[in-house]
Amino acid sequence: MKQASLTLDPAFRIAAIDPRIRGSFVEHLGRCVYGGIYEPGHPDADADGFRTDVLALTRELGVTTVRYPGGNFVSGYRWEDGIGPRAERPRRLDLAWKTLETNKVGVDEFAAWCRRAQAEPMMAVNLGTRGVEEAAALVEYSNHPGGSYWSDLRVKNGAKEPHGIKIWCLGNEMDGPWQIAHKTARDYGILANQTAKAMRLVDPELELVACGSSNRRMATFGAWEAEVLEHTYNVVDYVSLHSYYKPKDGDFASFLASGVDMDAMIDAVVATADFVKAKLRSSKTINLSYDEWNVWYGSETPGDDTPWAVAPNLFQDQYTLADAVVVGSLINSLLRHADRVKMASFAQLVNVIAPITTENGGPAWRQTIFHPMRLAFQYGIGDALRVEPTGPLVETPEYGAVPQLDCTATLDSETGDAAILAVNRSLTEPLLVETDVRALSGVRVVEHVALHDADRDATNTRDNPDRVVPQTMPAPVLEDGRVRFELPPLSWNLIRLATSPQS
Ligand code: AHR
Repeated sequence: MKQASLTLDPAFRIAAIDPRIRGSFVEHLGRCVYGGIYEPGHPDADADGFRTDVLALTRELGVTTVRYPGGNFVSGYRWEDGIGPRAERPRRLDLAWKTLETNKVGVDEFAAWCRRAQAEPMMAVNLGTRGVEEAAALVEYSNHPGGSYWSDLRVKNGAKEPHGIKIWCLGNEMDGPWQIAHKTARDYGILANQTAKAMRLVDPELELVACGSSNRRMATFGAWEAEVLEHTYNVVDYVSLHSYYKPKDGDFASFLASGVDMDAMIDAVVATADFVKAKLRSSKTINLSYDEWNVWYGSETPGDDTPWAVAPNLFQDQYTLADAVVVGSLINSLLRHADRVKMASFAQLVNVIAPITTENGGPAWRQTIFHPMRLAFQYGIGDALRVEPTGPLVETPEYGAVPQLDCTATLDSETGDAAILAVNRSLTEPLLVETDVRALSGVRVVEHVALHDADRDATNTRDNPDRVVPQTMPAPVLEDGRVRFELPPLSWNLIRLATSPQS
């Protein structure tokens, strides 16, 4: 059997992992909001119409932040449509997704839902069809205590206390020609700068995210970030990154190596942000918000294309075992960049390219991708460690030779708990991994769980929701300061260790 090795040493600390990398995304798209988080009349709906089964799964996932209301949707959105008495809210054409938006859920409902989900809201403002005034008004409505037009309206609408929304996205994917009122980097940079300043005048405590590129293949990638940040450097805190992956033209090997692309995108955006920092002679560092990432089959699962339907079935991807392994690998990429990726949102939370699927009036269940997310979010905490793996390579058409083992590790110095998160990218070959743990005092093995299956296309469905679940593996052997364990072919793995708390 082929072998790989790595080292776990608290001295090789990358950075503390920001809990906000465990974020998600709820967009007014398809059945994410209506039929997803909100379905009045459902047997599990609470008094406000929120599905408690979805809330419970969201809390189980350990989601820390939720981005809202889009996505492409936000670039045509009038947030005022979603406040006040429901019966009076207008029905509007949503041009981004060609659906009919009923506005039954808006900012007040979303803030209330976040409290129940125990997640922090992350709000996006419309910098497509709208601008400075509407964004500042939304901050006033959401965060100002009272005594002004918009804050008093919030109180009148039933939310006495301010929502206290700290994280705000300045538009969405404004580099993309598909975006409503998409802009050049210069036009967007100027607008984002002016909007950020006005929003901060209303609430100086905000943390702001400037739009980066929609993906690494955009013709303007790099140049876009540089120009936007030159306009906004002093008024924003983060720049966004988005990436979706799927197997292209039957090239499965490259799909399994999607984390290589994510690593490259992060490294390039860090370099670009630091280039602007140098150019501006700034002492401030811009961090990264990877606020859309996932596997997405896109046009292969468009769903119901009846125009102007309410909450149609759109992009309800059914994820396989292989997709879950790739998702685990994408989380590894985020963790190994914990020094600069301070926020991330998997897209999306429910029904639309999501780990949670629901049936209208029926059950909710966990897709395959739910499992690596939940376990990595629960145990991949504390500090991210550099592990320097060595081992065999696998050939990929898109990225050349890449390591068969994709691996990262974390150490929680308060509890002494350590986790190794490992992906075997080979479709056919198991991999024996030897981990040097001599630097960990009092180390012992807790467990090895793996997500793997003889059928790489296995899925979880309504009728068989637990077809793909984590399995307990033989306990790793600890001998002579080394832990040995075997990774099945095409698998995502969590190896948990306990150590004495690090001082
Ligand atoms: O998450 C689905 C869509 O993907 C979002 O609306 C958009 O931002 C991205 O292109």
